[in-house]
Amino acid sequence: MEKTITDLLIKQAKKAQSYSQARYSDFQVGAAILTNDNHIFTGCNIESTSYSLTICAERVALTKALSEGYTRFKSIAIIGPGEDICSPCGACRQMLYDYAPEINVIMTHRGELKIYPLKELLPLAFEDKRLKNK
Ligand code: THU
Repeated sequence: MEKTITDLLIKQAKKAQSYSQARYSDFQVGAAILTNDNHIFTGCNIESTSYSLTICAERVALTKALSEGYTRFKSIAIIGPGEDICSPCGACRQMLYDYAPEINVIMTHRGELKIYPLKELLPLAFEDKRLKNK
């Protein structure tokens, strides 16, 4: 049994990682995002022959949730291959910031939990209020 919702998120991220389609990089990533009302959506990275079309695990999880009407989030867990931390790429940081600036990012490093507010991972973020029509 998981002790906390964080343990559950990590477990779900690991399960999603097992579905990773990383045939080019062989770098399997899983993510699990927790909504404000405690629903969990998972994602894995999905690569394309046209490499730049690849989608990261975090954005798969986020867009799955958004596309089902879940728009408020508390945290996201990310698991990469091996024991080292898998820190979200810049594109994922931006997109998470667009939809969940207050989200906490949960990672593991050599068995230890590492939890960071997204705002710490993306200082001086570009925000939609900078757009003309906002
Ligand atoms: N990747 C993710 O899915 N999430 C990250 O946070 C880092 C990178 C994926 C993209 C690509 O499929 C592979 O890992 C190598 O970059």
